[in-house]
Amino acid sequence: MRKYSKVAIFFHWTIAILIGANILLADLSEDLPKVVRAAYMNPHKAIGISILLLTVGRILWRLTHRPPALPDKVAGLQAKAGHTVHILFYVLMIVMPLSGWLMIGLNGKAAPVDFFGLFTLDMAVGNNDMLSGLAHESHEFLATPFLVLIGLHVLGALKHQFIDKMPFIQRMWP
Ligand code: HEM
Ligand code: HEM
Repeated sequence: MRKYSKVAIFFHWTIAILIGANILLADLSEDLPKVVRAAYMNPHKAIGISILLLTVGRILWRLTHRPPALPDKVAGLQAKAGHTVHILFYVLMIVMPLSGWLMIGLNGKAAPVDFFGLFTLDMAVGNNDMLSGLAHESHEFLATPFLVLIGLHVLGALKHQFIDKMPFIQRMWP
């Protein structure tokens, strides 16, 4: 069976877990008072920046290393749909953390982000209410398509695995 490389598998699962954690942190914190909320949003920001950095590394790796050929049974529209979801993922894995960063980095009062107790990261890049607001809107808006894509991606993988009865998830399994 053809598999992704160890490096690609490392990027895939590390980033997938971090995205899951970030969506969970944002959701859990939603209705909490502002002071308590910071305890969730600070790791949210640090994880988000980690996702951004890992994704840049992952895209560079992907562009210089050919993925394993798809099984013969996955062709035509299915292959195209899978490929499109993957490209949209790469776009979102960049745009989502960037919009989060710009939302706070352009609001003129960004507090430094505590990077897992290791160091603090100054996220301020200026003061522009309009752009900060736009980034905020985008960040909130894009959360839904991101979740829909994750759903489609997992359903697609499960379909190939269990309905088409072929070892598919193994392609990306450590
Ligand atoms: C891939 C990375 C990220 C994902 C998947 C993500 C996801 C989310 C989600 C689902 C929400 C809740 C949106 C809603 O209220 O409907 C949210 C809110 C938020 N995110 Fe992120 N985020 C990411 C990266 C970042 C980064 C890098 C920062 C800042 C450095 C950030 C800052 C925020 C802030 C401040 C909020 C709260 C917005 C508000 O209070 O309305 N996020 N994020
Ligand atoms: C936040 C969650 C996830 C994201 C953002 C994500 C993203 C991606 C991306 C971008 C690729 C394409 C790799 C390439 O460049 O060729 C991929 C491939 C893959 N993912 Fe995920 N993934 C997530 C979760 C999952 C889960 C939960 C599963 C398990 C059911 C899974 C199974 C796979 C498999 C089997 C492949 C290989 C597909 C192929 O061979 O064409 N992913 N994923």
